[in-house]
Amino acid sequence: MRLYITGGTGLVGGNIIRLARRRSDIEIIASQYGPPPEWDVDYQLDPLDMADTGTVRDSIRKYKPDAVIHCAAILDHAYMDANRAAVWRATVHSNLAFAQACAEVGARYVFVSSDWVFDGQQPLVDEDSPPMPVLFYGFMKAICERDIMGVPGLSYGIGRLAGVYGINYSSPSLLRKQNDVGFDLGNYVVDQLSQGLIAEIWTGPKVNEVAHPTLASDGAAMLLRLAEHDESGIFHCWGSEAVSRLQYAYHFAETFAVDRTLIVPVPTDPHVLDRYRHMRIPFRIVSSNERTCEALGRSTYKVLDGMRDYKAQWDEFHAPARGPTRREGL
Ligand SMILES: NC(=O)c1ccc[n+]([C@@H]2O[C@H](COP(=O)([O-])OP(=O)(O)OC[C@H]3O[C@@H](n4cnc5c(N)ncnc54)[C@H](OP(=O)(O)O)[C@@H]3O)[C@@H](O)[C@H]2O)c1
Repeated sequence: MRLYITGGTGLVGGNIIRLARRRSDIEIIASQYGPPPEWDVDYQLDPLDMADTGTVRDSIRKYKPDAVIHCAAILDHAYMDANRAAVWRATVHSNLAFAQACAEVGARYVFVSSDWVFDGQQPLVDEDSPPMPVLFYGFMKAICERDIMGVPGLSYGIGRLAGVYGINYSSPSLLRKQNDVGFDLGNYVVDQLSQGLIAEIWTGPKVNEVAHPTLASDGAAMLLRLAEHDESGIFHCWGSEAVSRLQYAYHFAETFAVDRTLIVPVPTDPHVLDRYRHMRIPFRIVSSNERTCEALGRSTYKVLDGMRDYKAQWDEFHAPARGPTRREGL
């Protein structure tokens, strides 16, 4: 399979490339936006700014991949809100350009979406639940999903992720570790705990209180399967268990065998509340992904199982240098 991946320097895209590199039947082409990846590159890099839809179409026409996994995204909510027109072009227009180009060359198209297409007010959502976004990011993802469904002749998989944590193998220095109101606080918690520092867990107001954390390598394996699957539709590629932010942090402390008093529940930082004052954050997203796991023939981790695997990855990645393996992404 010839696989074209965007966002290969990111947390999710890098993990997909890492899995794909282990397969002799996959030829990888990865778009490159900012600095090149930090590991040794043994695949094709294709310079691309997704905001340039002409280049998006030209790239897909040039490489004629069998499948495209579009992971690249802008994820800074304050930036998104302040630059809506530009971010809309980079997100919504680029998605449509990828989808239409894939239909043209007969490529399978996998779009990476988010649990934030939901408002977090329903007791349980599944792949068929109607989206109800409450902020610009989720709204754009929901529009992208609808646009994909409207492209004639396209074979597509919309793979939704949630609260991704893990190792950014391709560009470790780019891994986001900041505390924030979303559920992607896992990397922040582990970074703090591993240095013996307190991890402040914002308990509200305005936080994503409950969600399905997803180990990046686990979500990446689901998305790779989705690229090789032939059913079109929406797939929930996130972890199989929902958990609260606080419980999530305690699980990290347990898994990494650190003192759980380093986990400190506090109200949300007032400066952050001010930054997000006009935005709504999905509160509690609990979802089934049974249909996805059955369709893709693979289950995603429950929370503690994911963390155990993460701990093993962490130990291996941070082990004293053992020659070239680390630069190859282990
Ligand atoms: N992280 C989560 O918790 C989470 C949860 C739900 C859904 N998702 C979705 O999962 C996907 C991957 O997220 P992630 O956590 O891996 O993000 P990430 O680590 O921030 O990586 C984002 C990637 O997008 C690339 N990119 C940004 N602007 C670009 C542009 N104009 N043209 C081309 N590439 C561009 C970046 O390239 P540079 O490094 O060169 O800037 C980077 O490779 C996204 O679609 C996101 O919405 C993530």
